[in-house]
Amino acid sequence: MASVSEMISTVEAAIWDAAQGLMRTPKTLPAWLLYDAQGTLLFEQITELREYYPTRTERALLSEHADSILELTCKSGSLNIVELGAGTATKTGILLSRASRRMDAVLYQPVDVSLTALAIAKQNVEDAIPGVEVVPQLANYVTQPLEIRRVENERVLMLYLGSSIGNFLPWERKALLDNIRRQLRPGDFLLIGVDLLKDKRVLLPAYDDADGVTAAFNQNVLARLNRELNADFDIDGFAHLARWNVGERRIEMHLQCMRRQEVRLLGPDGETVLLTFDPGETIHTENSYKFTTTGIISELSEAGFEGTKVWIDDKSLYSLTLVEAVDQHKRVD
Ligand SMILES: C[S@@+](CC[C@H](N)C(=O)[O-])C[C@H]1O[C@@H](n2cnc3c(N)ncnc32)[C@H](O)[C@@H]1O
Repeated sequence: MASVSEMISTVEAAIWDAAQGLMRTPKTLPAWLLYDAQGTLLFEQITELREYYPTRTERALLSEHADSILELTCKSGSLNIVELGAGTATKTGILLSRASRRMDAVLYQPVDVSLTALAIAKQNVEDAIPGVEVVPQLANYVTQPLEIRRVENERVLMLYLGSSIGNFLPWERKALLDNIRRQLRPGDFLLIGVDLLKDKRVLLPAYDDADGVTAAFNQNVLARLNRELNADFDIDGFAHLARWNVGERRIEMHLQCMRRQEVRLLGPDGETVLLTFDPGETIHTENSYKFTTTGIISELSEAGFEGTKVWIDDKSLYSLTLVEAVDQHKRVD
């Protein structure tokens, strides 16, 4: 297994790759870049906002259905939970504490690209739920292989919550779900939370709150580039923009340049790279696709998962879907 410093330098090396999106037209940055230490703390604040219904709705679903989820997935006296993009694991605590009451041993392996999130997750879980062993992994689950610790004859319950799957374009999503399936064995489970398609009057405020926390979260990506790539963005010259793209069924977050800017940043060999931004031009920083239950079930089925159980809140805002990895060779399509 890679050491923590090796893992940190892999994540740092990826920042330059991510910045390549600024040299293309239209300019883009990958969503994972939003999550440095400050971005992680700002996201925590977003989850508490009145406008941001996804976290509290998913938390309520987990709370209501934790016992059913555990009954369906726990086939022995111990449980091995792996969580992709775990963040601070605040919601996961609900499942972990119920599991620790029922099981002799619970192993929890949060995977995240944010070291800050993993440190908080480990502390939160260990303080509140003794008996759960926490083994964090600093990794980008798109570009790096997962190192799942396995316990003999024990199934894995993988969690992918927070509608993080919605950050990916349809073809990226397919590749990611195929990759997740390859990392699991037949009989392992995946519990995935997705934000459902709904009126844009509910969607848009969730990404453009009145207090400006989401704006600060979005703009923070430029502060990260200033710090980590020696860039000189004038951050106040970029405004937060949330758009509903009806054709693609996604919320887009952009940073819109308010006046012409020339920005310098440091390339990988120490050279200076010059970027120009025209007034009105945007950097596309995040997509959040919205789903239908049939849509997500069919994407999971294509990737090699079956046996669907879906839980939806009474306002049909959000869904949790539990599926089992099936033996690809035995599949009847
Ligand atoms: C939307 S937050 C969700 C956090 C938590 N799962 C929740 O539901 O509240 C996304 C989390 O995934 C992490 N993340 C985003 N992209 C990632 C990637 N490619 N690899 C690993 N972690 C990633 C971020 O650091 C962040 O903690």
